[in-house]
Amino acid sequence: MKPSNALCLLSSTASAFVLPHTTPNCTSFATSVALGSFNATFLNATYYSADALNVSAVFNSVSFCEVYASISYGTGNDSLVFALWLPETLQYEGRFMAVGNGGMAGTIDYTNMLTQLNSGIGFCVAGGNAGHLASANNDGEGVYIPYLHDRAQITAWYHDAISLFTPAAKALAATYYGKAARYAYYDGCSTGGAQGFALAQYHPELFAGIVARSPGGWYSHLALSFLWNAQHTNKSSTNLTQAILNFTTAAVLDACDTLDGVQDRLIEDPLRCDFDIGSLACSESYGSALSNDTVNDTVECLTADQIEATKAIYAGPSRSDNGSNLYPGFSFGSEIEWLLQEGVLAEALSVPILQNLVYNNLSYDSNDFDWASDVADVDIKAGTLIDEISPDLSAFRDQGGKMLITQGWADPLNAATWTIDRLEQFQDIFGGDVSEFFNLFMVPGGGHCGAASYYPGVPATYHTVSKLVQWVERGEKPDELLSSNPPDGSTTTRKLCAWPATARYVSGDVDDWNSYICE
Ligand SMILES: *[C@@H]1O[C@H](CO)[C@@H](O)[C@H](O)[C@H]1NC(C)=O
Ligand SMILES: *[C@@H]1O[C@H](CO)[C@@H](O)[C@H](O)[C@H]1NC(C)=O
Ligand SMILES: *[C@@H]1O[C@H](CO)[C@@H](O)[C@H](O)[C@H]1NC(C)=O
Ligand SMILES: *[C@@H]1O[C@H](CO)[C@@H](O)[C@H](O)[C@H]1NC(C)=O
Ligand SMILES: *[C@@H]1O[C@H](CO)[C@@H](O)[C@H](O)[C@H]1NC(C)=O
Ligand SMILES: *[C@@H]1O[C@H](CO)[C@@H](O)[C@H](O)[C@H]1NC(C)=O
Ligand SMILES: *[C@@H]1O[C@H](CO)[C@@H](O)[C@H](O)[C@H]1NC(C)=O
Ligand SMILES: *[C@@H]1O[C@H](CO)[C@@H](O)[C@H](O)[C@H]1NC(C)=O
Ligand SMILES: *[C@@H]1O[C@H](CO)[C@@H](O)[C@H](O)[C@H]1NC(C)=O
Ligand SMILES: *[C@@H]1O[C@H](CO)[C@@H](O)[C@H](O)[C@H]1NC(C)=O
Ligand SMILES: *[C@@H]1O[C@H](CO)[C@@H](O)[C@H](O)[C@H]1NC(C)=O
Ligand SMILES: *[C@@H]1O[C@H](CO)[C@@H](O)[C@H](O)[C@H]1NC(C)=O
Repeated sequence: MKPSNALCLLSSTASAFVLPHTTPNCTSFATSVALGSFNATFLNATYYSADALNVSAVFNSVSFCEVYASISYGTGNDSLVFALWLPETLQYEGRFMAVGNGGMAGTIDYTNMLTQLNSGIGFCVAGGNAGHLASANNDGEGVYIPYLHDRAQITAWYHDAISLFTPAAKALAATYYGKAARYAYYDGCSTGGAQGFALAQYHPELFAGIVARSPGGWYSHLALSFLWNAQHTNKSSTNLTQAILNFTTAAVLDACDTLDGVQDRLIEDPLRCDFDIGSLACSESYGSALSNDTVNDTVECLTADQIEATKAIYAGPSRSDNGSNLYPGFSFGSEIEWLLQEGVLAEALSVPILQNLVYNNLSYDSNDFDWASDVADVDIKAGTLIDEISPDLSAFRDQGGKMLITQGWADPLNAATWTIDRLEQFQDIFGGDVSEFFNLFMVPGGGHCGAASYYPGVPATYHTVSKLVQWVERGEKPDELLSSNPPDGSTTTRKLCAWPATARYVSGDVDDWNSYICE
């Protein structure tokens, strides 16, 4: 089905949604809502006609009323700010949508709010700043980060970021339209993906449908994986330069590209790729100069230290005492963007979390981290406050909640297979198939929240939200998803399949999603 057809179907179902009155005055209606019972305070309201708002050169296709309010939480002096966009009644189909945050949060994701407002699905859209200001993020070594010292602000970062403002936002929308929304949806990526898992685990009653993309759900151990990858590449002999990463990715693609029957410099299922990194080892007689890309940009083989470093990143962090794995490693075909893993992410996230949240010691040296005895410190001090890893989402499932996950195989931030591990945990606890409430779509050549820079031909818009709405409102389980709009501007479309199914080429144009089936 083409996306336009999908939207048509949705709108025709929704045309039965009739509002009892014309919308009230945007700038004054909110003062009539008893926001105090939600610990909320009205801030301001502004009416935008179509094309009046410009977010990174994208304009609002429908006119809407914007309301800002704040929520006081914690001991009462913590504050979360949220925005609510209320389109005209003709463009509203009784659907409430909340969007999540990125990274350390502290800002409202207006870009995603605009995507949802413009989607044609008939949403009113809310988004918040997760309870602190971005000016309190201060990433870097030895820097005091205020919000990581305030328990309520830490839990507002992930666990309560969305739940704190959702009841007040729903109440404002109900007053504006004279009727409560019929369905509530959520969409978020990265930190926002983790916030989606937090909603299902901690606030299962708030949303009927959740899209969680590239979720950083086991955040405390994701931070450990950044540290692990940095420590394994921090010497000149273990440094995996861009030229080496390019060389490795090219070799992996040479070995595994055509396993799926299509030669497209893309691996459909990296788990089926049986690549041996040892096959790239320099022979002893070869001469080290040829593997030294500082001499010449041409890399022809990897030294033993470079192979060990690469293996460490494929494997992911493990305990030094008994070898048990602490977070998954990276997948074949993702190597080319690993530079981020070689210190940048550790400095921006792992070190600040260790120094502020875990050890409350700004002089703490992360090279002292003991990969056996110190893991418990991370679990107790950070994990309990920022992770969303319960294998039991029965409260969410039992009331009919639906979760749709996307994860790029070439995501350079969070290891792709964490989402597969989660799916398998749910299958274990619920005794088999969980596709009635949880479906995961792995994206070959997909990056973090969209395109991976090395795969510009891979469609980077995943048609998740319209599919989720059909699933929630019409019970149509999503077995496959359309992806479109690759960064290279081509018209390529691809079929994404509910894991463990993958797309198999049948016949026709290899760049048309209709030429594939999920199996
Ligand atoms: C809406 O209310 C504001 C404030 O009370 C007032 O200034 C404005 O004129 C009203 N707008 C309309 C269209 O009635
Ligand atoms: C309002 O804040 C108080 C104090 O923090 C809290 O106990 C109460 O549950 C909050 N109410 C709502 C509706 O969130
Ligand atoms: C409304 O409040 C928000 C949040 O404090 C602020 O960012 C925005 O500038 C305000 N808008 C107006 C029109 O005052
Ligand atoms: C819209 O915003 C972008 C920056 O985000 C700016 O470059 C562009 O000029 C703006 N367009 C208009 C018409 O104001
Ligand atoms: C918040 O209030 C508590 C107790 O009222 C106080 O101890 C704390 O310092 C305050 N925090 C901030 C950031 O103002
Ligand atoms: C790794 O190589 C890059 C690029 O040549 C360089 O900037 C960086 O300092 C090197 N890092 C180490 C630890 O040698
Ligand atoms: C690595 O590959 C990318 C993408 O093909 C290319 O743009 C870049 O120049 C290459 N870098 C090196 C150092 O070979
Ligand atoms: C790599 O190149 C650098 C710069 O020319 C040189 O100093 C170093 O000795 C070389 N390393 C090896 C292993 O050949
Ligand atoms: C440098 O690269 C060229 C190809 O561009 C290759 O022929 C040559 O052998 C390389 N030399 C060294 C020392 O790596
Ligand atoms: C390794 O040790 C940890 C901590 O004691 C324990 O939780 C885990 O089960 C152990 N794993 C193995 C494989 O022994
Ligand atoms: C803080 O960390 C440093 C470096 O790891 C250590 O030497 C120092 O003892 C720690 N301070 C406290 C109070 O634990
Ligand atoms: C690299 O990390 C290891 C493990 O933490 C540490 O012992 C070593 O000092 C680090 N090396 C450099 C050059 O930073």
